[in-house]
Order: sequence, then C-alpha cells, then structure tokens
Amino acid sequence: MLVMIFACDEQNAIGKDGDLPWRQSSDLQHFKRTTLHRTVVMGRKTWDSLGKPLPKRRNVVMSRATVEGEVEQMDEAAVLALAEEEDVYIIGGGEIYALFMEHCKELHRTVIHTTVEGADAFAPPLEGEGFHLVGERHVPSGPKDDHAMTFQHWIR
Ligand SMILES: NC(=O)c1ccc[n+]([C@@H]2O[C@H](COP(=O)([O-])OP(=O)(O)OC[C@H]3O[C@@H](n4cnc5c(N)ncnc54)[C@H](OP(=O)(O)O)[C@@H]3O)[C@@H](O)[C@H]2O)c1
Repeated sequence: MLVMIFACDEQNAIGKDGDLPWRQSSDLQHFKRTTLHRTVVMGRKTWDSLGKPLPKRRNVVMSRATVEGEVEQMDEAAVLALAEEEDVYIIGGGEIYALFMEHCKELHRTVIHTTVEGADAFAPPLEGEGFHLVGERHVPSGPKDDHAMTFQHWIR
C-alpha cells in the first residue's frame, strides 16, 4: 500500500529554497516513529536536501537521471509494484506527492500552524480526494518547535 507523509502550513506549503521552512522537532520525531524500518521514497530534490540516507529505513530516490551516491533508484512503475507487496512511504517533495496522490490510500499530514511567506513547494490539497480524517491530535509548540501543530491521519 502507498502511504504519504508530509508537514504543511495552513496553505499547503511544504518547502522553501530547497529546505523545510520551519524548525519543528516534534514533527521530525513523529516522522521518524512513523517511517522507521519502512521503505521511504523521495524525489531527487528532497534527496539533495537530506544529503544522506535516512537511517534504519530503505531509502529510494526518484530521478530521470542517474543519482550519485549509495542509494536505490526506482521509477514510478517500480514504486507502484513494490507497494503491492509492502507499505511504501512517500516522503516528498511536492512533485512526488503530486505524482502518487491518486494511488495513495493512507496519509499522515501534520498541519504546522503558520503561513510561510515565499514558499515554493506545496502538498496536494486533500479536499475532493475522497479522504476521511480518522485521527487528529493538536500539539502545542515545544522548546524545539517554531509553531504549534496538528497531527492528522487520513484514509480512503
Ligand atoms: N514539509 C514536508 O513534509 C516536506 C517533505 C519533503 C520535502 N519537502 C520540501 O519539498 C521541497 C522539494 O520538493 P520539490 O517538489 O521541489 O522536489 P522533489 O519532489 O523532492 O523532487 C523533484 C525531482 O524528482 C524527480 N522526479 C519527479 N517526477 C519524476 C518521475 N515521474 N520519475 C522520475 N523522477 C521524477 C526529478 O528529479 P531529476 O530532476 O533529478 O530528474 C525532479 O526534479 C524542498 O523544499 C523540501 O525541503 C518538504
């Protein structure tokens, strides 16, 4: 099954200048708990921003060119085939979320309670996509968070 996970502001912004537009430690912990020991799939630009594979996960990068470094590379068909066998976590960025949206059955969205000025990467809106909210938890801003956030779990 394909599962998507992202953090967005209140206007669906997820990135700015090739990086995350906030410091949000509580969300990074949530991301780690959710994806640990799983297969994670990311676009080449997100891979560039990470700089190294996420530990204790099978890292897959998508690019139309050959990706340098020790990482597995797959095309869209290979990712979809793998998702027939196991849960595959789509971890961004904007191009890769848009690519797989129609195939995604489960989604973890963290709404970061802010509006980013000058954002240049966005998550697809969920409205009209047939998702149902099955869980929601509001978390105030902790000492290593820029903003309060709401963890949401959606399925369809
Ligand atoms: N807030 C969050 O949860 C979150 C999560 C992840 C990322 N981000 C942010 O999102 C931003 C990056 O997102 P982005 O949309 O600019 O880039 P991206 O989705 O990370 O990567 C785009 C790249 O993926 C490759 N690609 C796209 N479609 C493909 C296809 N059909 N087949 C094979 N390869 C394909 C291409 O690589 P080539 O150009 O090499 O061909 C393309 O340039 C950054 O700011 C990052 O920090 C935020």
